[in-house]
Amino acid sequence: MSRKITVNLYMTLDGYAEFPPYPGSDAPSAEPGEVFLDMWIRRYESVDTVVFGRRSFEDHANFHSEAARKPSDPKFLFEFSRWLDRCNKIVLSHHMKKSEWQNSTIMSGNLEEIVSRLRSTPGRDIIVDGGPSLVQEFIQRGLADDYLIAIWPVLLGRGKSYWGSMLNQQTLKLLSVKTLPYGELLLHYETVR
Ligand SMILES: NC(=O)c1ccc[n+]([C@@H]2O[C@H](COP(=O)([O-])OP(=O)(O)OC[C@H]3O[C@@H](n4cnc5c(N)ncnc54)[C@H](OP(=O)(O)O)[C@@H]3O)[C@@H](O)[C@H]2O)c1
Repeated sequence: MSRKITVNLYMTLDGYAEFPPYPGSDAPSAEPGEVFLDMWIRRYESVDTVVFGRRSFEDHANFHSEAARKPSDPKFLFEFSRWLDRCNKIVLSHHMKKSEWQNSTIMSGNLEEIVSRLRSTPGRDIIVDGGPSLVQEFIQRGLADDYLIAIWPVLLGRGKSYWGSMLNQQTLKLLSVKTLPYGELLLHYETVR
């Protein structure tokens, strides 16, 4: 079987990607929450490649590489950074020329061809983790095998939206729904092909 491609989405109820404050969103935590567990920690063994748009890649390099960690950060974030440092990181960009972050590859061109090349390259599964522009291209073209969607209990009405016009209808099968402590939802959908 070819490598599975999961798209991670974090959004307001109306589909915006800005991280908004809400009661509980800033609760300090030494342990990972259910979203972090499902999107990352439970997938460390099965995933070895993470795909980013250029902006999301830069944000992750600045906040989530091990070099960027602060001594006060919880242990699970250090472990996340070490895992992410080891992963193959694909960054989509028309302009970026090089990256200092280890195991990073810059790609541009036809997204369907890039995805098909990634699928046929030997390796473990793949996570696409933003930002919203790149994720919207994956959704619009039906390139993902499944979607993990964290929904914050907020209507925002501004910023970048994940939802755009589709090229074709995509039908999804709901695999699980989790209700989280501060009113967030975690939805897992599989693409029906
Ligand atoms: N809610 C979330 O999970 C989440 C996640 C990440 C970011 N964000 C927020 O969203 C904002 C950034 O959003 P964004 O949508 O601009 O970020 P993005 O998707 O990470 O980056 C967009 C850039 O990626 C490159 N790109 C996208 N598709 C491409 C393609 N098919 N081929 C080649 N290059 C491609 C382009 O880079 P070049 O300009 O270099 O060509 C484009 O400018 C930030 O404010 C951030 O805080 C939210």
